[in-house]
Amino acid sequence: MSELQTRKDEAIAAIDAAETLDALEALRVEALGKQGWISLLLKTLGQMSPEERQIQGPAIQATRGEVADAIAARKAALENAELERRLASETLDLSLPAPQAPRGSVHPVSQVMDELAEIFADLGFSVATGPEIEDDWHNFTALNMAETHPARAMHDTFYFPDEGRGEGAASSSEAVGRQERMLLRTHTSPVQIRSMVAQGAPIRIIAPGRVYRSDSDATHTPMFHQIEGLVIDRDIHLGHLKWTLETFLKAFFERDDIVLRLRPSYFPFTEPSVEVDVGWQDVKGRRVLGGDGDAPGHGWMELLGSGMVNRRVIEFAGLDPDEWQGFAWGLGVDRLAMLKYGMDDLRAFFDGDVRWLAHYGFSAFDQPSLSAGVGARA
Ligand code: DAH
Repeated sequence: MSELQTRKDEAIAAIDAAETLDALEALRVEALGKQGWISLLLKTLGQMSPEERQIQGPAIQATRGEVADAIAARKAALENAELERRLASETLDLSLPAPQAPRGSVHPVSQVMDELAEIFADLGFSVATGPEIEDDWHNFTALNMAETHPARAMHDTFYFPDEGRGEGAASSSEAVGRQERMLLRTHTSPVQIRSMVAQGAPIRIIAPGRVYRSDSDATHTPMFHQIEGLVIDRDIHLGHLKWTLETFLKAFFERDDIVLRLRPSYFPFTEPSVEVDVGWQDVKGRRVLGGDGDAPGHGWMELLGSGMVNRRVIEFAGLDPDEWQGFAWGLGVDRLAMLKYGMDDLRAFFDGDVRWLAHYGFSAFDQPSLSAGVGARA
């Protein structure tokens, strides 16, 4: 048996006996590494006579192939054994609770809007929307607030600059035309106009959404949320308004003892206009809605503005006010959320602090959670 044959048999025997991947790697380097004995043998081919090379060349190459195959086979066997060992030793305990994945929550404003949509859906209302970038006509004029109307001054409106309103629009404000002047809507009332124009009468809608005013303190933020309501039909009167608001507030606050007081007021878009107050009572130092506001220890809280839609508004929207009447209201969603869920700083609503959201947010998986109330918190 040639010397080459002997070395090869020894090497393969050692490879087959290797116990670990590290030991196997050492054997590979010893044979096939740069300074390995097979590599060195291959280098000697250059000095051989052509005849000798013809015999030795194939023999050395064959040896290299066999050794490499043996290493690959042993490597696979060792890896397989390692896997078997891990499978045998590592077990999965399926009874262990899974780690809690971080979960977002529903913002109280979204929650309250969902609750409102649900209550009003039961009363036959659908949800309408309008643009937050509104024009002067929809936001003011069509709501019976002409250019010079003093009520406009109360709105602290964010106007857009007149420039850059496309081809032909000269940069002078006269050329733009006051009616087309763009602004961030100051209330959801323009959706009344858009809905009447788009769908005619009869109508029963609510319009929740963002509104903007240049105002900021503990109870005012430059962006806040309102919900508008509008009913247009034949023979509608103030009694329908009162019943609708009462039914809605009882459902929303989940109390049967909600008492309303309608106070005469003024809004350009309603006639007559009423301010709606809701009775509260003192329960251990906290104001809780419900009960007769006139009784000792009770009081009234101003909640929303409403009234019978002004004839002029119905005309502006292209309907005949002798045929169609209706009522409307507008109220602050953020305020409603604060009242129902006991939050006291409006600014925290829009800070985006996840700790606040974790505390006051609602689980998306319990939606809709009208009757669940605070208990629905995640
Ligand atoms: N748009 C009014 C505001 O933002 C609220 C309001 C009052 C809306 C009376 C109405 C209404 O629809 O009838 O101050």
